[in-house]
Amino acid sequence: MVSRLRLGVLISGRGSNLAALIEACADPAFPAEIACVLSNRPEARGLDIAREAGLPARAIDHKAHESRESFEAELDRALRAADVGLVCSAGFMRVLTAGFTRAWEGRMINIHPSLLPSFPGLHPQAQALAAGVKVSGCTVHYVTADVDAGPIVAQAAVPVLAGDDEDSLAARILKAEHKLYPRAVRLIADGRVRIEGQVAVVDERE
Ligand code: GRF
Repeated sequence: MVSRLRLGVLISGRGSNLAALIEACADPAFPAEIACVLSNRPEARGLDIAREAGLPARAIDHKAHESRESFEAELDRALRAADVGLVCSAGFMRVLTAGFTRAWEGRMINIHPSLLPSFPGLHPQAQALAAGVKVSGCTVHYVTADVDAGPIVAQAAVPVLAGDDEDSLAARILKAEHKLYPRAVRLIADGRVRIEGQVAVVDERE
């Protein structure tokens, strides 16, 4: 059997995108598998989801470290020990230093609930509502030192409806995220994505 791309999933909380990746990887034909799940918060519900699925899951509590660098060094060791080929940040709420993002450049992606480059950073759904856009969505992008700014792998759009509040828009986007993240991982695992400068060029052929 052809070897599958080994994913290291980074989480901080709920873990619904992790659950979507677990479901995708349960298909033996999916070209990736989850090698480890790491959370910077010991109480993250996503850790239970991972353990229930029988996956190696571990908290690396950033509060137990006196510096970002020592926290990230432990994260890095855990990812390397699990022989991770692609890091998938899925609701991971720590900003990573340039040292870490450089070390994993081209091998680390993130999902963000807006159509980047619109609305990076915190509360993107509230930002979308405040701007009055009629379409929003989600983006999977490579992680670089600049937050929410790396080469875009895949996006999905959803309508912003009159009467939406942050919660209703977030829920609509989240549904799209759960389809988009596995699709983006598949594209990368199938070798259909190459980075050219700021741009990820994607071969979407059937
Ligand atoms: C998602 O909306 C993701 O795009 C953002 O944080 C949220 C995480 O949700 N980065 P979950 O933990 O995957 O349920």
